[in-house]
Amino acid sequence: MTSMYPGYFISFEGIDGAGKSTHIEAFQKLMQERYPNREVVMTREPGGTPLGEQLRGLLLDAPMNLETEALLMFAARREHIAQVIEPALMAGKIVISDRFTDASFAYQGGGRKLSLDKLSALEQWVHPHLQPDLTLLFDVPLEVARQRLDAHRTLDKFEKEKSDFFTATRDVYLQRAAQFPNRIRVIDSTQPLETVRQEVENIIQQLIQQR
Ligand code: TMP
Repeated sequence: MTSMYPGYFISFEGIDGAGKSTHIEAFQKLMQERYPNREVVMTREPGGTPLGEQLRGLLLDAPMNLETEALLMFAARREHIAQVIEPALMAGKIVISDRFTDASFAYQGGGRKLSLDKLSALEQWVHPHLQPDLTLLFDVPLEVARQRLDAHRTLDKFEKEKSDFFTATRDVYLQRAAQFPNRIRVIDSTQPLETVRQEVENIIQQLIQQR
């Protein structure tokens, strides 16, 4: 938990095509309404800083060794924490990040089969004490995600992966949700948009009551 910081740290997760991007903007508005005196910072991974965005360009396009990929994800994250996340949380802001370390466990660990111990070691190195206060995991069955992606613009390196990659990615996301039930809330993203929005609102209400 980030109770060591006066701000709130919230991450959005899910396999490609799970619908997280549809909800993130509405979520920003909702948080701004609930916390009119706090600045809401929207950011993303990989990315969120000028260097991180350059690394994103490479990560989403260039073929590379899977350990290189994991190391670059965490290098971008180190910069993101130092330049954006930590200063904002120290200043009492609400940081909403489109993906964080759960994505590395799910994609590099699940999808690419990099050892979860290596990922834990990187996590310990890069952010031993920082975790999101809340993670919203948008979950859909694989077929739904694939259909949504097929209707999509040009696909990046990850989006072009095969079904078993995403099955393994989703499995690790769900395993982590079971492992950290207080932090990660799974949202059934096959529901109508309005139902999802309502569920997200209820979750925020609980977050506010806890702190
Ligand atoms: P986005 O399309 O949601 O912006 O995410 C970019 C891609 O990067 C997405 O396919 C997931 C992938 N990714 C990883 O593989 N590992 C990570 O640690 C992060 C943050 C993203």
